[in-house]
Amino acid sequence: VVVHEVRASGLEYLALATELLQRARLADAEAGLWEAADLQWWWRTPRRSDAIEQLFWVDDAGPVAGVVLTEWSRAWGCDPIVVPGFSAVSLSTVWARALEAIDALALEAVEVLVRDDDFELVGLLAGAGFAPGDDRSGVTWMNAEERPAVAAMPDGFVLIDRAQTTTPHPLQRRSGEAVEARLRQCSLYDPALDLAVEAADGQAAGYALFWFDPETEVGLVEPMRVEDAYQRRGLARAMLTAGLDRLAARGASRLKVGYATEVARALYVGAGFRVTATSTSYRWRRPVAPD
Ligand SMILES: CC(C)(COP(=O)(O)OP(=O)(O)OC[C@H]1O[C@@H](n2cnc3c(N)ncnc32)[C@H](O)[C@@H]1OP(=O)(O)O)[C@@H](O)C(=O)NCCC(=O)NCCS
Repeated sequence: VVVHEVRASGLEYLALATELLQRARLADAEAGLWEAADLQWWWRTPRRSDAIEQLFWVDDAGPVAGVVLTEWSRAWGCDPIVVPGFSAVSLSTVWARALEAIDALALEAVEVLVRDDDFELVGLLAGAGFAPGDDRSGVTWMNAEERPAVAAMPDGFVLIDRAQTTTPHPLQRRSGEAVEARLRQCSLYDPALDLAVEAADGQAAGYALFWFDPETEVGLVEPMRVEDAYQRRGLARAMLTAGLDRLAARGASRLKVGYATEVARALYVGAGFRVTATSTSYRWRRPVAPD
């Protein structure tokens, strides 16, 4: 197999990352942490990482591996990705190039989210001085045919989708003015799967995006939020069950959602999702140089 390196930034990066993760999913139904739609969700807001030259390995059929670096508020995320079962580029090679990139960009703080069953990456991280955090996150899946019945929206609230409305996007407050324009740049974004709940007075009570990937037939939930004042009335359950139903109608055969809190895990497991992997965030800070 002839593999060569390609560097890409901006929307060209996003297209390659999308192809890489779709190929990874087609190679293995549950491996890894991310769907292509996760990285498209990360695109919602401008980041310094938009402009860097991200590294991919590409064969005749497209990308087979990559190093994805993403600027978050607290640290940069680093995701070394290899298509499962593909041996021409090893994880240790990808990781070595990730460390080179971290150095070249002089990043100060880096986090790598790892599946707890990915012993090879855990070993590479330990060797590079990354230390595990105490977060408890994970990935859950369900077959679309096992999805729960659509739960009724509690009285006084209405479900809306972006295909029906031109009001400011409820994500603007957290993700910035450009959020809708950025989402519309994403190949897998579908306004009819971009749901929100409004209270009777028009206040935004919550939102949830659902992403259907026609290449993999996976339907992803990300993000999911009910504002504090509106929690524990069944709004999340109503949005979740409605969104899963729309994903199934689009053609999703499998449904996925990740969680990062115990409350979210309870919501998803309560709806019939099964935890297939837990994950841990490994953190590194650049040592302070002596004077
Ligand atoms: C997670 C979240 C969306 C739940 O929204 P919600 O509208 O309050 O949830 P619902 O009322 O529909 O509850 C559905 C189920 O979720 C679980 N749940 C919700 N809140 C819970 C809590 N505080 N403690 C334990 N379980 C909880 C329960 O299983 C609940 O079912 P039950 O009421 O029959 O026990 C909301 O707490 C939230 O937005 N949190 C902050 C953002 C976040 O963590 N999002 C998830 C990211 S993956």
